[in-house]
Amino acid sequence: MKTLFVTSEIAPWVKTGGLGDVAGALPQALRQAGCDLRVLAPRYPALQKAFPNAEHLAHLPSLGGQLPAADLYAAQHADGLPFLLLDCPQLFDRPGNPYLGPEGIDWLDNHLRFGLLSRVAARLAGDATPLDWRPDILHCHDWQTALAPYYLRFYEKGGAASVLTIHNLAFQGIFPPQVLDELGLLASDWHIDGVEYYSQLSFLKAGLRHADRLTTVSPTYAREIQTTAEGMGLSGLLRSRAAELTGILNGIDTTIWNPASDSHLAATYDREHLDAKRKNKAALQRQFGLPERSDCPLFAVVSRLTSQKGLDLVAAAGDLLAALPAQLVVLGNGDKTLEAAFRKLAERHPQHIAVTIGFDEALAHHIEAGADCFLMPSRFEPCGLNQMYSLAYGTPPLVRATGGLADTVIDADSGALGNGFVFSETTPAALMHTVRRAAEAWRDPKRWRQLQMAAMAGDYSWRVPAARYLDLYRTLQRQ
Ligand code: ADP
Ligand code: GLC
Repeated sequence: MKTLFVTSEIAPWVKTGGLGDVAGALPQALRQAGCDLRVLAPRYPALQKAFPNAEHLAHLPSLGGQLPAADLYAAQHADGLPFLLLDCPQLFDRPGNPYLGPEGIDWLDNHLRFGLLSRVAARLAGDATPLDWRPDILHCHDWQTALAPYYLRFYEKGGAASVLTIHNLAFQGIFPPQVLDELGLLASDWHIDGVEYYSQLSFLKAGLRHADRLTTVSPTYAREIQTTAEGMGLSGLLRSRAAELTGILNGIDTTIWNPASDSHLAATYDREHLDAKRKNKAALQRQFGLPERSDCPLFAVVSRLTSQKGLDLVAAAGDLLAALPAQLVVLGNGDKTLEAAFRKLAERHPQHIAVTIGFDEALAHHIEAGADCFLMPSRFEPCGLNQMYSLAYGTPPLVRATGGLADTVIDADSGALGNGFVFSETTPAALMHTVRRAAEAWRDPKRWRQLQMAAMAGDYSWRVPAARYLDLYRTLQRQ
């Protein structure tokens, strides 16, 4: 089974969220399960630096429109995973975030940047590939690569079967109609079953319509996106493809997110040595400049600060949370109003609330280990990885019942399997009610230990999800 896995992010080098984590771990799990897999990604500066000895493989002339010529380089990860790096300095040799310029605004040529990635993926998956390796499966992720199944179907011959995984339906890759020519697409592609979406061009819609199979990252989200309320304007199309759409819950990289070996922690620990977790709490309180209290629970947030994540509810409940008493640490960046709201809360409650605005991988690990309870009140959450990191770190998550959160967290009050706290209504009052429940449970050490044990007993690895992706690839190979 040969698979070309195409992605615009890949941890640890290029990551804005969970997509990067998934692309950093799932390919390796698939390889271990027997798949001959190569990862195609843009040759961003971070990847140039990571693989300075990458070998030139092929030159690709322009594949139409204003898509520039490009080159392919081969590199190999230390663990043996082969990468194909798409080199096009005019599009990819830009530092920092893969989508945004220095002012935090989308690059104006993102359609060309990810159009090229998609177009090259399709070329490599068809008969005209310049490589001597042609995949059976082309596996794409999110809007950034969603034009690939379309190009493959209509612009290449004898292609691989295609799979498109939806990590977040909120990002659809929508551009004005003028970009049609630039992407080497024809006027005849401009129709409802082509690339047109409400008079705009949508990368994601084209992929959702034309990939052979669709997956998303949890069973609950697979159901939710077929409803008008959660389908972000695409529920009709998704319902029409219900037979080809499956939800496969993400895993986590248990070599990176493992409290027994995590080098970012003040003290490592496991289920049998949970007491060492306390040292992480004290170290975290020190790091955030909070009093080292062991008599009140420490809640935590690590997140993109966007409306998806429901953190406005936390900001609104902040005063009450501090008064419980409880402590709160927040690591995140994004929405400026939310950043300001958390800064204000920290100013008002310096003994109880502390905030770091920014993106800091090491601190994220430290928080998972040092906090008592992790907050994820998302409005929607396709899968969510942080609640699984929290479960693995014995830090019961408090979540809203949506998407992958509903598929991984079981409420403490629902029996012995309880591993966290779940609420439904998207209001500060409902959140606060559940925060109080969690604080009360925390005050009962036996009960809390039972929750931590249940959380840490789960298997959150990629073993089962990778097997499910392989099964899916096999059904396509047989057709
Ligand atoms: P999403 O992909 O929607 O942002 P996930 O829970 O799937 O949500 O994944 C988020 C990933 O990004 C996690 O690995 C999380 O630790 C990381 N992350 C988010 N914000 C930050 C931040 N400010 N600093 C460090 N890591 C962050
Ligand atoms: C997206 C989703 C998140 C999911 C991640 C990886 O960013 O918002 O819920 O965990 O992709 O699939």
